[in-house]
Amino acid sequence: MRVLITGGAGFIGANLSKALVEQGHEVVVLDDLSTGSKDNLAGVPVRFVEGTILSASDLDGVVDGVDSVVHLAARPSVPRSIQDPMASHLANATGTAEVLEAVRRAGANRERPAQVIVASSSSVYGANPTLPKSEDLAPRPVSPYAASKLATESYALAWGASFGMDVLAVRFFNVFGPLQAAGHAYAAVVPAFVDAALAGRPLPVHGDGTQSRDFTYVGSVCAVLGDAIARRVSDPEPMNLAFGSRVTLLEVIAELGAIIGDDLEVEHQPTRAGDVPHSQADTTRLRSLFPGVEPVPFTTGLTATVDWFRSRD
Ligand SMILES: NC(=O)c1ccc[n+]([C@@H]2O[C@H](COP(=O)([O-])OP(=O)(O)OC[C@H]3O[C@@H](n4cnc5c(N)ncnc54)[C@H](O)[C@@H]3O)[C@@H](O)[C@H]2O)c1
Repeated sequence: MRVLITGGAGFIGANLSKALVEQGHEVVVLDDLSTGSKDNLAGVPVRFVEGTILSASDLDGVVDGVDSVVHLAARPSVPRSIQDPMASHLANATGTAEVLEAVRRAGANRERPAQVIVASSSSVYGANPTLPKSEDLAPRPVSPYAASKLATESYALAWGASFGMDVLAVRFFNVFGPLQAAGHAYAAVVPAFVDAALAGRPLPVHGDGTQSRDFTYVGSVCAVLGDAIARRVSDPEPMNLAFGSRVTLLEVIAELGAIIGDDLEVEHQPTRAGDVPHSQADTTRLRSLFPGVEPVPFTTGLTATVDWFRSRD
């Protein structure tokens, strides 16, 4: 099948590109390289197009003839959205509507439009303290990023209902793994920790480290997305894409110390605006839509991530 990945030069997108090519799919990537890099796709035979989801003509040039679109392009990160909320709104909310419209335009001349899978985020649960996070809970975004991701999934589901398109809106929960960028102000926690640990620097911990997350290895994410494409899975409701684990930052640090074989020093920093204390997915919907997918265990994923960071030195 032919698959378009928007944001395919980013962390999740490049891992997915590689996985889909290995499964025999033809992959087209549209990316403006704002946070992604062509290096992430080195040696992966995709058709790469540099362009933006905010341009209808860039989208029209890549969407024709594709069976599925995995829409990952976005301005990621909570702190970035607090720095510049309108930029997050534009890329994540307006950008998603542009992608859906491009698929609808291309679908007008075909039997049916392409399937569209969009990336939402556990951050939509925000201030709702209930655990685990079931998709039936009321979303309560506490950052512009979270609000823009709620728009991403709402637009996808609304286009599905209004125009008969096959859509799937997945909420990622702290995905980690190879190719995830570290060493910048907005780095996610796992790459920031691994990078610091391997360089012998103290690990930057916002708050006391007891906050917990449902860390998901990128290989598990790719397995679900690959299955969603192969079986053209769609759903009128959003779906958590995480496997229900709950790991604190202090546990991540202990696990990392064991893998690296060192006692790791920690540097506590103030809690960040927009961060939520705990996050854990209810997996009922995921298990019912994707009964065949088993997650990669946390320690296995963390070891693979450390190996990848080491391989770059
Ligand atoms: N990594 C996570 O833990 C996580 C959690 C929740 C949601 N998500 C979502 O998953 C998706 C992928 O995240 P990621 O971690 O791979 O981030 P990433 O920054 O590595 O990837 C995003 C990609 O989108 C591209 N991009 C940004 N704006 C664009 C535009 N206007 N046109 C074309 N390309 C554009 C970037 O250059 C980058 O390659 C995003 O939608 C993000 O919001 C990720």
